[in-house]
Amino acid sequence: MTPETRTHRLVCLTGFMGSGKSTIAKLLASALGWQNVDLDKRIAEASGLTIPEIFARLGEPEFRRMEHEQLVRLLAEFNETLKPRVVSLGGGTIAQPQNLALLRENGAILIWLRCPIEELLQRCAQITDRPLFRDEASFRRLYEERLPTYQLADYCVDNDVEPARVVERILALGIFPRVTV
Ligand code: S3P
Repeated sequence: MTPETRTHRLVCLTGFMGSGKSTIAKLLASALGWQNVDLDKRIAEASGLTIPEIFARLGEPEFRRMEHEQLVRLLAEFNETLKPRVVSLGGGTIAQPQNLALLRENGAILIWLRCPIEELLQRCAQITDRPLFRDEASFRRLYEERLPTYQLADYCVDNDVEPARVVERILALGIFPRVTV
């Protein structure tokens, strides 16, 4: 397998909370016949706690430590099996420089799911399981802070249409090998 082919077999979705990473990753993985991995789910499973519980009981620094640990594991698994996968990262995963470096070292392709802030606000205000959604002002601030990080992704795809069309847009990037398994 050439390094090029390998590169295209680890695709990670990044983007702000509420941008649809988990939903799109699931659909994309199923369209490609690839494995889908959700980093937040891994963290919750490994700790036996929900993400809000981790933030409330252990604090954000501990959450970041666990997030890094699970990312290291996930990449190790990928390198062992080289099974192609679509990973949905957490909204803050690549904001940690060591995580971004690790993803790059392992040849991950990063796709930023871009979503207008007003849409993100609307979605996140209705969902109570996001510990970093405190109020509108801090949400907007964090979004602005994170934007330069998301702009480091290899590709940007707008998530402003129905999920199936977003998946089509990703498939149309032309980054996937013809033979997917
Ligand atoms: C976070 C986003 C969350 C989750 C945690 C921290 C962030 O994931 O990882 O609450 O720092 O933006 P989603 O982006 O899937 O909501």
